[in-house]
Amino acid sequence: MTSRRDFLELAGAAAVGIIVAPTLVSADSRQPPKTPAIATGGHKVRDLPFQASKLKGISAAMITSHHDNNYASAVKNLNKVELELAKVTKDTPGFQVAALRERELTYTNSMILHEAYFGNLGGDGKLGGALDKRLAAQFGSTARWEELFRATALSLGGGSGWVILDLNFATGDLRIYGAGGHSQSVAFGQPLLALDMFEHAYAMDYGAAHGKYVDAFFQNVSWSEVEKRLSRGDKALQGMS
Ligand SMILES: [Fe+2]
Repeated sequence: MTSRRDFLELAGAAAVGIIVAPTLVSADSRQPPKTPAIATGGHKVRDLPFQASKLKGISAAMITSHHDNNYASAVKNLNKVELELAKVTKDTPGFQVAALRERELTYTNSMILHEAYFGNLGGDGKLGGALDKRLAAQFGSTARWEELFRATALSLGGGSGWVILDLNFATGDLRIYGAGGHSQSVAFGQPLLALDMFEHAYAMDYGAAHGKYVDAFFQNVSWSEVEKRLSRGDKALQGMS
C-alpha cells in the first residue's frame, strides 16, 4: 500500500499541481486507484522523524515549536479547508470558492514542504555516494551547487520562503528553486532537499542572523534521505516516459 509519505514524495511537493504518481496507480495502469489515499479532511500530523535534542545548532525548543505550531497548524487548517470545500455547491459565491482553493494550496504545500524539511534533517551533513556525483554532473561541482543553494537561502533571509532542490519532472534534471511562499515552487517535480527560510525556522535561535542557521542546517542534512527521494523520483520519471 502506498503510504502518505510515498504519495507526497512521489507526487512532488512543490507546488502548484499534484501529479498522479505511478505508484498511486493500480496494477492495471489504465485504472485509477479505487480509494483515495487520504480521506477529505483526514490528514494527520506526522511526528518529527528524529530526536529533537539531537540536532546540531538547531535547538529542541525551536524545532519542536516549528513542528507543533507552524507545521501542525498547516495540517489542521488544511483539513478544515477541505471540509469546507466539500460543502461547496453551484450556489457558493465564487470569491468564497477562490479563497478556499487558495488556502487549500497554501496549506497543502506547507504540509508537504515541512514534511520534506523535517525528513531531510537528523543526519550527519555528510554528502556522498550517487547524489554527490549527480550534483557534480549537474552543477559542475558539489561546491558550486552548495554555493548556489546557500545564495538562494540568504536571498530569502529577513523575508520568508523555501529553498528546494528539486528533480524537475518536465526537464528530468536537478534544479534549485527559491520560493517566496508555500505556493511558488515548481509545479511538476520531486522535492529532494527542502530548507525552510521562514523566520519561525531560525529566529528563536539566531535572531536575524539567518546565515548561521543555514550553516546549522547543512550540519544536519540527512543525505541518505535525499538520495532515497532522488531514487524514487528517478523511478517515477522513468514511469512517465
Ligand atoms: Fe516552517
